[in-house]
Amino acid sequence: MNRPKLCILATMGLLFSTYFVACKKDPVFQNYQTTPYELEVPKFFLPFLPVQENELTQEGVALGRFLFYDPILSEDGSQSCASCHNQQFAFTDNELATSVGIKGIAGNRNSMPLFNLNWHDKGFFWDGRSPTLRDQILEPIEDPIEMASTVTGALERINGKPFYRDLFYKAFGSRTATSDNLAKAIEQFMLTFVSSNSRFDKGRRGELALTQDELDGLTFTQAENDPSVGARGGDCFHCHGTSGELFSDNDYKNNGLDETLTDLGRFSVTGLEKDKGKFKTPSLRNLSFTAPFMHDGRFKTIEEVLDHYGEHVVQTSPNIDPNMNKARSVGQIKFTPEEKRIMLAFLKSLDDYELISNPAFSDPFTN
Ligand code: HEC
Ligand code: HEC
Repeated sequence: MNRPKLCILATMGLLFSTYFVACKKDPVFQNYQTTPYELEVPKFFLPFLPVQENELTQEGVALGRFLFYDPILSEDGSQSCASCHNQQFAFTDNELATSVGIKGIAGNRNSMPLFNLNWHDKGFFWDGRSPTLRDQILEPIEDPIEMASTVTGALERINGKPFYRDLFYKAFGSRTATSDNLAKAIEQFMLTFVSSNSRFDKGRRGELALTQDELDGLTFTQAENDPSVGARGGDCFHCHGTSGELFSDNDYKNNGLDETLTDLGRFSVTGLEKDKGKFKTPSLRNLSFTAPFMHDGRFKTIEEVLDHYGEHVVQTSPNIDPNMNKARSVGQIKFTPEEKRIMLAFLKSLDDYELISNPAFSDPFTN
């Protein structure tokens, strides 16, 4: 045996022993411990809905935050969840009517804001095709327009990174990312986006005094419009106000946008004629950050939305909600400039600047 060969053998031996030492230190053989993530139910809000087998932990939320911001989930490494759900815009898209996925392909729906998901009890997406938040998470990864990947592919890329293997271990006691713990981590992170610090909330908690316009706007949006008794009101509360804090009942309704439907909405999930043209009712919170509006992003400003409700409700739209300007009986409410002004003041009091600037929700790769 000559010297170089001996050398190679010795090096191999060394590598082998370091490998075993490294394996011995593998955290799989240690106890793992998580720290509970304390998320408080804000004052006046209903208790959180129970989350199936996914207790929030510091480690799980931290992992979910990395995954949410990591383009590793998309096939070509170009898109993360945050590409279409940007904190600055209350986790929606920047002024895009319909989201643009990888390779610049445009989808047909407006990205949805992400906050107070803890109380969404009737499904996710504009048509509610995902019954739970956790089911929803794997969908954009496999959506041909959004991330155009496969969950298996995404898991392989994640499992190839020691960085993630450590984080998965800390959060779930296993160094291997699976579709289940991947979805659980992202679910935990998204559940921390609680929006409860708007002027409206602070006013309600007695931390500040709302202006007269804001208060009048609140009363007006919560009032019935009934010409038979001379009562004027925005009639918004039927769908956006029943639970008070969320400013949405999260139910599927038709608010009279179109006579001819190009997107059948809830019908594509239930197949029921009565669901054609119904979409998930969005919250009125954070509107200053989430333009454009509606499932297809057709309105650029809140003013345009108010004009729709006041003057352009299509009473012949299939399955229009009976509460939509008391369909057909009231026709158009025709808001006065003063009514629009106070409604706008109230709607803006629902903007939560703490949500869009909270460092805990920001990109962990750059912050
Ligand atoms: C290419 C843009 C895009 C990407 C990337 C994307 N989303 Fe979305 N997201 C959307 C659009 C558009 C909708 C509405 C889709 C629909 O209703 O068909 C949506 C809806 C949602 C909803 C439903 C909210 C509700 O109130 O029902 C959640 C939650 C969500 N996305 C989370 C995520 C997560 C988590 C990721 C990353 C794994 C992600 N999104 C990646 C564009 C995107
Ligand atoms: C019959 C139920 C109903 C009533 C009443 C109603 N809305 Fe809506 N609203 C909806 C639904 C459903 C959508 C989503 C429709 C879609 O995208 O196809 C929506 C969407 C919106 C949006 C867009 C939010 C976003 O994120 O895109 C705003 C803003 C809004 N409504 C404000 C109001 C105001 C203000 C009033 C009262 C003047 C009102 N709504 C009355 C059901 C209703």
